[in-house]
Amino acid sequence: MALEKDPAAEIQELTHRINYLNFQYYQNSVSEVTDYEFDMMLERLQQLEQQHPELRQSNSPTMRVGGTITKSFKTVYHKYPMLSLSNTYSEEDLREFDKRVRKVVGDEVEYVCEQKFDGVAISLTYENGSFVQGATRGDGTRGDDITANVRTIRDIPLQVHGQDFPDLFEVRGEVFLPLQVFEQLNVEREEAGEQLLANPRNAASGTLKQQDSAIVASRRLGCFSYGFMSSSNPFDTHSESLQAIQKWGFKVSDTWRKCTSIDKVLEYITEWEGKRHELPIATDGVVVKVNSYALQEELGYTSKSPRWAIAYKYPAMSAVSRLLEIRYQVGRTGAVTPVAHMEPVLLAGTVVKRASVHNANEIQRLDLRLGDIVFVEKGGEIIPKITGVDFSQRPADAIPIEYPTHCPACGTLLIRAEGEANFYCPNDEGCAPQIQAKLEHFISRKAMNIEGIGPETIEQLYRTGLVRNAADLYDLRFEQLIELERMGEKSVNNILEGLQKSKEAPFDRVLFALGIRFVGSTVAKKLAEHFPDIEALRSAIYEELIAVNEIGDRIAQSLLQYFSEPEHQQLIERLKAAGLNFKFESTAPEMESDRLTGKTFVISGVFESVSRDELQRIITSHGGKVVSSISAKLSYLVAGDKMGPSKLEKATKLGITILSEDQFLEMVNS
Ligand code: IVH
Repeated sequence: MALEKDPAAEIQELTHRINYLNFQYYQNSVSEVTDYEFDMMLERLQQLEQQHPELRQSNSPTMRVGGTITKSFKTVYHKYPMLSLSNTYSEEDLREFDKRVRKVVGDEVEYVCEQKFDGVAISLTYENGSFVQGATRGDGTRGDDITANVRTIRDIPLQVHGQDFPDLFEVRGEVFLPLQVFEQLNVEREEAGEQLLANPRNAASGTLKQQDSAIVASRRLGCFSYGFMSSSNPFDTHSESLQAIQKWGFKVSDTWRKCTSIDKVLEYITEWEGKRHELPIATDGVVVKVNSYALQEELGYTSKSPRWAIAYKYPAMSAVSRLLEIRYQVGRTGAVTPVAHMEPVLLAGTVVKRASVHNANEIQRLDLRLGDIVFVEKGGEIIPKITGVDFSQRPADAIPIEYPTHCPACGTLLIRAEGEANFYCPNDEGCAPQIQAKLEHFISRKAMNIEGIGPETIEQLYRTGLVRNAADLYDLRFEQLIELERMGEKSVNNILEGLQKSKEAPFDRVLFALGIRFVGSTVAKKLAEHFPDIEALRSAIYEELIAVNEIGDRIAQSLLQYFSEPEHQQLIERLKAAGLNFKFESTAPEMESDRLTGKTFVISGVFESVSRDELQRIITSHGGKVVSSISAKLSYLVAGDKMGPSKLEKATKLGITILSEDQFLEMVNS
């Protein structure tokens, strides 16, 4: 009986359908199916592709989730070179540009103004509407083939929509890490004691060069497309091509505008100077392009850039100040980072007194000296940084900066791990700022969330010698606390209550609170789900650790190191004795009965009295299993409203019992 659908046909159908749904969702913000139905389709497609890898379509939407490993990126030549743009910073230069253009092509010239996105340039090649290659700019002539990584970016269609496109064409655009994602990534890194990403541009560029495309997929990169090229270009103007590629499924930022004169161009520039900060990506100027392709050709190119376009750059948000002092901060993990203290200066509307200098290498690279006049900039990054020294103004008595060899707080000899830019103070048991920062992390909201205690209280508890580590917190008594300065009965009770309440925090939060290097809240969750309790985790060997999804060499080494130290063993024992949670408690639904054990269900359609999630929960809580596709082995199809006719037909053909919502509920409740 050939009742199962031909896998090739099903794969093709699902690929087509999911690509279409993605297009509707990402381009038109329309959800034609529920998330659940969508996930089920994608899961089914993945399952079929695993069974028949030879049938996987090159534009399969399953590529979006990544999983391809590229050991080294192949070099590819660009069919059309990837040029740069000449830059200008003044109205005068722009008027000059306009004059030059009009001299060649006459006065009837129209421009298109676009944002100059500060991301990573990319070239995308399509054959017969299918995405076939993604490449970086490289040296402009040849770049890296990063096709597998590009496939994970949802703003880039794997299959173009419509019919009106040439057989072979390229789209150019800018890949970026949305500012929100960038900030979130840094929050996670900070929590895990990792070095922060310098700015969204570098982060995007680094992400595109990841060997594992699943990591790329997890970063949620975006892409704004701004260029179209083909040897059979059907369009007369750049603006027409922008409209067309948008219709085909590319993401085009709707910030572009046609301008019929250079005055209109200047208006656009002024208008966007402030508004650009509301965009999801950093921009540093405006690109002005001649709209007509015929006129572009007439104007031609220099060896580096087109004569038909120019980039106007907004003045950098920079200021000049005097470097007064470098102070060294010791963080929770012992990392020692230099912070520049300067004479206060106004920068992008705020008074700035401090700036980052990242690490020792940077001090050397900039050749910083105390007393120097320095340039401070605020770019894509949130914290201003020192970008250079005005050597012409260097005072004769400027003092070279010597990076400390010993911890500025406790005097311990600093160490620098192979390949790392930062120095570390290894005295994690006796270095005051390190311990205080560890305690602050322990009580923080995402960790133990101890209400009633803040950084000042931590400082006070440390200073008075009452608390030296997290376990000491749980030994605090009313009589001790009430003795402290500025501490009333109410505050003391709040602290004690907060500590008591924190004992309810689940295992993963406790694990995160310990502050193990590289173990951020996400990693802590993964570990807690995998190892039932702290005993299992601390006795795990390297191989067992890296076998856990998302746990790599670095995290495994860090865990082994942490648990090997007797002080940490002791700390954990004391915290355990205090009643903290060192066991994973599953949040899986409680079993209500085993009435449905051995039975499989497909849920389809829309239901009246219960949601799909609720149906799923009911089935599993009675021992049943929910599956995605209908097969002869299926026990029941729970059919709601608006269920697809093909499913119904298939189930009927296979003689599967179809239950209505009421019948199903009656069955489990009887
Ligand atoms: S058009 C001939 N349009 O700027 C160059 N480029 O300096 C054509 N860029 O590598 C590029 N936003 O990465 C163009 N709206 C935009 C852009 C843009 C950013 C970048 C692009 C290019 C660089 C050139």
